[in-house]
Amino acid sequence: MAEKLLVVDDEQDIVKVLAKILELSGYEVHTATSGLDALRVVKEQDPDLVLLDYMMPDLTGLDVLRGIKNYSEDIYVVMVTGRGSEEVAATVMKAGASDYVIKPFEKKQILTVVKDTLRIRSAEITTRRLQKELADLNRDLEDKVAERTRDLVDTQERLIHQHNLASLGEMSGGMAHEIRNPLNSISLYAQIMIDELPPDDPKVDYVQRILSDVDRINAIVTNLNLFSRRIKRDKQPLHLQTPLETVLRTMSMQLVNKGVRVSVDIEGGLPEVLASGEEMEEVFSHLFVNSMHAMPEGGELAVVMRLLRGARNGEPQPGRDEKPGQYIEVSVRDTGMGIPRDNIDKVFIPFFTTKTDWQGTGLGLSVANRVITDHKGTIDVESEEGHGTTFTIRLPVLESGAKLDAA
Ligand SMILES: Nc1ncnc2c1ncn2[C@@H]1O[C@H](COP(=O)(O)OP(=O)(O)OP(=O)(O)O)[C@@H](O)[C@H]1O
Ligand SMILES: [Mg+2]
Repeated sequence: MAEKLLVVDDEQDIVKVLAKILELSGYEVHTATSGLDALRVVKEQDPDLVLLDYMMPDLTGLDVLRGIKNYSEDIYVVMVTGRGSEEVAATVMKAGASDYVIKPFEKKQILTVVKDTLRIRSAEITTRRLQKELADLNRDLEDKVAERTRDLVDTQERLIHQHNLASLGEMSGGMAHEIRNPLNSISLYAQIMIDELPPDDPKVDYVQRILSDVDRINAIVTNLNLFSRRIKRDKQPLHLQTPLETVLRTMSMQLVNKGVRVSVDIEGGLPEVLASGEEMEEVFSHLFVNSMHAMPEGGELAVVMRLLRGARNGEPQPGRDEKPGQYIEVSVRDTGMGIPRDNIDKVFIPFFTTKTDWQGTGLGLSVANRVITDHKGTIDVESEEGHGTTFTIRLPVLESGAKLDAA
């Protein structure tokens, strides 16, 4: 396609002759005879190059030049100035003109300037395009590096957290074991004392308190044992809705009494996971009990179970029995009091509890986290204070026909 030129001069004759010369050399030529006219044609035609006379009746050549450059840096301008105005030439070059010619000029001279300027223009535009592409690529690369770094930091934090929890579990498991025996004798002696005291003795009440606190310590010890996974349970191919439904059935009266409406939405035909049914029951029951506590005035508990395709940030790598990138996701959402921002990072830490009236040991979620991690899954929490809480569990899907010797 022919390159497009615009010739601007207030003298009709000059415009005509210049246009003729340039057309004969194969250019597409447009003309204008005033500054304003020139700017109008520039916008209409988007020329590659403008031959612009400096002296014009309406706008100065410098204003027109600035207007053109402001409109597009890809339109190149060659200034035509009168003899003796070399100073003007310097100014227009500074303002963005590509070259200048001094009147009167020869045909050959003007053709050479036009040809050279167009050649430089095409090279510069290519360079600018490449630079832009390079900058875009760089930005993409930076974004990717930043994203990968974030993923790595996420994964690392998760690993450190799991490692800390594991050591804590080990230690507390050992302690729990040591506590059980003396606890047993305290309980036995207390029972003997009750038997030996007259029923109306005020000490009976003290001893009963001892016994109820012994029960409480016993509950803590049981949770600690679970948390440290001293009691290992076998994993089997399992449809997750089985433990879920068992727990909901067991708790249904309690939930109804507390004014909690339950909705369950389970995607049809979900594949199995490799899991211990008992442990999954533990996990669901810890989550539901927490939700129930968070809704003392009643509310809604929504459980959604579905298949998730595609790995997510910080997701653990699937084991050899699992389908890569496929997870069963269970979300448990309540409309309870929510978790304050300051506490959200603490809920999985053993013994963290806000239930000060001895209702909680602060081990429920630590146990849940431990169990899920042990199943190569993840458990996450999202919450807005005053609006409710959602716990999301993801467990890898079992590869059908997998050999289960790794269980
Ligand atoms: N659904 C929820 N809504 C609001 N807060 C929650 C919810 N689940 C957990 N929490 C907060 O996280 C804390 C820790 O929960 P976790 O289940 O580990 O212990 P707990 O319920 O206090 O005691 P435990 O479960 O051992 O009886 C709770 O005390 C509570 O502050
Ligand atoms: Mg709890």
